[in-house]
Amino acid sequence: MTNKKRIGILTSGGDCPGLNAIIRAVVKYSYLKGWEVFGIPRGTDGFLDISKGDLLIEDLKLQPHGYDVPGVLQGLDILQFMSGSVLGSLSRGNPADDHITEHILKGYNLLELDALIAIGGDGSLDIIYDLAKKGNWNLVVIPKTIDNDVAFTERSVGFDTASNTVTQALYDLTFTAASHERIMVVQVMGRDAGHLALHSGIAGGSDCILIPELTPKLTEKTIDGICKYIAKLRKDRRKFALIVVAEGVHGLNNQKDPYIGETLANLIREYSHRLCSSDNTDYEGLDQIDTRATVLGHLQRCGVPSSFDRILATVFGIKALHLIEEERYNRLVIWQNGAVESKSLEQIMPMIKWCHQENTCPAPVDPEGFMVRTALSLGIYLGESHFHPDHHQ
Ligand code: F6P
Repeated sequence: MTNKKRIGILTSGGDCPGLNAIIRAVVKYSYLKGWEVFGIPRGTDGFLDISKGDLLIEDLKLQPHGYDVPGVLQGLDILQFMSGSVLGSLSRGNPADDHITEHILKGYNLLELDALIAIGGDGSLDIIYDLAKKGNWNLVVIPKTIDNDVAFTERSVGFDTASNTVTQALYDLTFTAASHERIMVVQVMGRDAGHLALHSGIAGGSDCILIPELTPKLTEKTIDGICKYIAKLRKDRRKFALIVVAEGVHGLNNQKDPYIGETLANLIREYSHRLCSSDNTDYEGLDQIDTRATVLGHLQRCGVPSSFDRILATVFGIKALHLIEEERYNRLVIWQNGAVESKSLEQIMPMIKWCHQENTCPAPVDPEGFMVRTALSLGIYLGESHFHPDHHQ
């Protein structure tokens, strides 16, 4: 065992705020230890370029300087404030064929790394784990995703900032909603999980939150429930409402709908106008309602990383290096009970792979968990499976 180590680092999957903060922590600590860090561009595609000779290995060495904004900020530290990834990232599935895999493994070997730090979500984890097994890599994985759905970690880098972004958007929309007495539907990211919608919906004062764990698809009953809920709000003299819908909620036909926010806004408008013409007093006052949809989109993956995300990124980066120092490889760095830990990939991968095969989320919102119960206790409408009896009084 040599003291000086050569570490590779890459970012894979959808970007999020905090990736550069991890890179900064890894380069900073490695520099203090006299270790070398090589940044692999564009996820595992970087290994392909290395194997083809399109990239010079020496050019990949990450230095503790050279990221300057002239006259403003110098040195490596600027990275902690920047979203995106200075290494670039890759949102693609498995390497297309064995030939590509071979090239990736060749590129990896040319770098003569002692270990690789891969920063990714559960999809990347699955792919890189298989490559690492084939190539006998010493792998440490750091979880990141604004969806917060990497299994076995309570927090992934990027989630806190995205929650703050959505919460701020809800706050901003409150005033235009109130001025025009409108129903604002806000479509939030979360392909398979509702953590982002639930957390920011609670923090941003949302009246209804629809997440795939509780409302896998829109139903007439759900729309009816929302309309009744809005009618009750209006009776209580609250004329506007905020509704958060996670993109993982399917449409009435149970198909994925990239415009689910718009679909929901239209359905609420149509149903409410129809329902208010009935004699049922539950729907009184709905004739006036006007709906609008907002898709926050990739803005949710942007912004200066929050203080918590910077802390998490830094702690995770340093932990990854500690694991490498102790030669404890093939581990996922995790956040558990307010502290950093790690878990063996051998232990966790069977469950993650099973979820991918079954097309189910490895870390969904717990329908009986404290966040759901908190939302219900606030009187937030969460769909028909979790309706609060008081909503319908
Ligand atoms: O996985 C994170 C995520 O933000 C999802 O919530 C979203 O569906 C997806 O990325 C979109 O990614 P892209 O537009 O980069 O394919």
